Parts: sequence; C-alpha cells; structure tokens
Amino acid sequence: MSTTVENRGQFGSKIGFILSAAGSAVGLGNIWKFPGKAYNCGGGAFLIIYILMVVFIGTTVMLGEFVIGRKTQKNAIGAIRELNAKYSWIGGLGVLTGFIILCYYCQVGGWTIKYIVGYITEVSTIYADPMAYFLNNLLGADRFPVQGAIIYPLIFIFLTAFIISRGVAEGIEKMSKILMPLLFIVLIGLTIRSCTLPGADAGLAYMLHFDASTINANAFLVALGQAFFSLSLGMGVMITYASYLSKDENLVSNTGIVCFLDTCVALLAGFMIIPAVFATGIDPGMGGGFAFATLAGVFMSIPGGTIFGCLFYFLLFFAAVTSSTSILEGTVAFLVEEKGMERKKTVVVVSIVLFIIGIFYTLSQAHMNLKGIWISREGISYPIFGDFMEYLTDRLLLPLGALTTTIFAGWIWGTENAIKEATSDGKYKFALAPVWAFLLRIVAPIAIAIIIIAGMFLGMSIS
Ligand code: PFF
Repeated sequence: MSTTVENRGQFGSKIGFILSAAGSAVGLGNIWKFPGKAYNCGGGAFLIIYILMVVFIGTTVMLGEFVIGRKTQKNAIGAIRELNAKYSWIGGLGVLTGFIILCYYCQVGGWTIKYIVGYITEVSTIYADPMAYFLNNLLGADRFPVQGAIIYPLIFIFLTAFIISRGVAEGIEKMSKILMPLLFIVLIGLTIRSCTLPGADAGLAYMLHFDASTINANAFLVALGQAFFSLSLGMGVMITYASYLSKDENLVSNTGIVCFLDTCVALLAGFMIIPAVFATGIDPGMGGGFAFATLAGVFMSIPGGTIFGCLFYFLLFFAAVTSSTSILEGTVAFLVEEKGMERKKTVVVVSIVLFIIGIFYTLSQAHMNLKGIWISREGISYPIFGDFMEYLTDRLLLPLGALTTTIFAGWIWGTENAIKEATSDGKYKFALAPVWAFLLRIVAPIAIAIIIIAGMFLGMSIS
C-alpha cells in the first residue's frame, strides 16, 4: 500500500485491509506491554476492565477513525481539515504522539532482533540466567547498553525506514497473510505449554481470579491507555488506513474483526507470560524485560525450544515491524503531504531523530525503580526521561487523541454524517447505530475525560 497522495491505491480485498489494520494493531503492545500491565494491575479484574474498555470505547473510537478516513480518502490531518479546517490540529496531535511512541517502540523492536540472534548463537547463556542475559546485553547494567540502545534499535529503525522509503509496504502486507496467522498458532502452542509448566497454576489462578480490591482509578487509566495503544488508536493511523478503503467495505464489521483479533492476541500473551512468571520465579517488577526473560523458561521446557524461540522472536519482530511502519508512515506522510518535504530525506531525518531520543528510553529502563533525574554509567551521567515517554503517551496523549477524535466525529462532523459513512450510505445494516452514536457523543468522551483527569492526580506509575 503506498501512501503518497499522487498514488493513492485502494485495498484490493477485504482481507488485505483487515490484515493491514490488524498488522498495525498487533505488535509489541500485545505481547511485551499487555502482560506486565495485567500482572501489575491485579490479574483477573484487570482483564475484565480491559475487555470493557475495548468493547465500549475502543470499538467506538476505531469506527470513528474509520469513517473519517474513508469519507475523505486523506491522511489524518488532511482528513480532518477537509471536514472542518479549524480542527486539523487534532491530526497534528496524533502525529506527535505517534512519533514519541516510535522513539521507544524501535528500541524494543531492536531487542526482538537481539533475541533472534541470541537463540541462534548463545541459547545456553540465555537459559543459564534469562534475566541476567536481558540486563547485561540489552540494558547494560552499569555499562552503556551499546547493543540494547544502539546496535539493535539501529537495525530495526533501518528496516522500518527502508520499507517506508522504498514503498515496499505492500510486500510486507502480503507476507503478513502467512506470518500473522502463524504467530497466532505459535502463541496458542506456547500458551498451552506455559500454562502446564510446574508451578504455572498459581499464575493461571492469578489471571482468572477476580479480586475487586484491585479495581481502582489507576487500573482504568492503564487499561484505557493500553487499549488505545494496542488498537493503534488516537494517532490517526486508522484514519489513514481507512482512507484506502472503498465504499464496498463494511466498516462496522471490519471494526469488530480488528478489535477482536487484537484483543485475542493480548489475552493469549497474558496467559502465555504470567503463568510462566510464576513457574520461573522471575520478578515482573524488573521492568520491560521480564516478558523477554520469562519466555526463556517456556522454550527451555519444550523439545526443539531453541527453534521455537527463534521462530517466536522472528514473528514478534515481524509483528513489530508492521506496527512501526504504520506509525512512521503517519509521521512521514504528514511532513511530505502537509509540509512539502521530500520523502526519502524526510524518512532519513525522522529516523535519526527518533533513534537519538529512543536511546534514553533504554538507558532509563534499567533503573525503573530509581528515583532521581540522572543515572550514571561508566562515569557519565544521563537524564532519566526515557520512561516519561511511555507515561506521556499512554496516560495523556493517546487518551487525548481519542477524546478529540470522538468529539470531532460525534459533535463537529456529526453522528448523522458518521452513520451515513459507516453504513456506506445505507448499503449495510447497522442495527446498533443509535448505540454507537450515544457512545461516540456521550459515553466515550465523558469516560475518557474522567480517566485523563483522574490520571493527572495519580502518581508516576505507568504500569
Ligand atoms: N498497536 C501497536 C502495538 O500494540 O504494538 C503499536 C502501535 C502501532 C501504536 C501503531 C500506535 C500506532 F499508531
């Protein structure tokens, strides 16, 4: 799929669109982020809150983005400008959010490459002490993390930039027809193995136990931010994708399918990682690396685990690339289409800037629980603002992006127009249209606003 204005193609098939949108949605957010949030926010009760957020707010916002995109056939900013020029800043906010996310996304994407290499070349070192492997190689303990912050993220960014600048995203989407279902199958297999590990039952019980005392404002805020992140909402990415859709497609059913697939993958990942956490005794408080480290316990316990490890990280890397390209495309399309910059140059400049900012994320990760502004490595001090990126996007910018989108679609552009577009001018039945209109105008904006405000009064916790 090429996203330049001169050459606006269309998705040839329904499955092509679903795969692209699901490819953007399914990524590190589901597998690396979600299990940690589910663990820290109380297990079973969090799963229910998360599902409620997806069903009532996620689907509402996604359909809102889809209708804006298909109606105008433009990128996020151009689309909103066309409907009402005063509000094009909403699209700009989304591009900024996407850029900040990309800074740290590419760091973690790089870590998946390190693990592909690690399972091929030094699996015995990984198995000997999975957490130490992660800390030493990727976070660097007290040394500067050359591999985790520089080498592997650079490879990941290079690949993302290459795909975008050469316009080969179409090829990637073709590959996802095979690789995404394969990821799903591998996840199911690993989840079954993880849940049957000795000691895993405590983890399973934790994920299935509904403990009402864990329900609090923080859990709602985390679930909401995670739902937006995971569904790629609040950044205009889904506006851009839907802009390539024809009127023949049923946006309502597409919304349901994408949200369902993405949530299935997140839940599967939760049931793959958390039981393994209990079985292996790895401390999930260790920051972003625990998902990487705990999985070693699963691979270790299956015949051919090395091969499965390699395959799994390859698929995870692929899922991450289909997401990172969707974000980078958003930033680049904005600069090219709105600011008249040259495409290849833009890709290079954006990549360099996001790479430099991203380094601070990895630097900060090893010191998750450290208070203060500076960390010292090999005698040099670095500021700890890396964690702040995740905090800022998940707790503030993403919900704000979704809030403004719902208000725009529900009040400014109006639900009448939105429903007309959602049903392809009456071609498709949409029995729940009045419910969606109510969710879009009233429920979603109020719920998101309350959660954002509550979040401002809560502490710095991002998990
Ligand atoms: N949804 C992706 C994930 O869960 O990994 C991340 C993402 C992709 C976020 C695209 C935002 C976006 F625009």
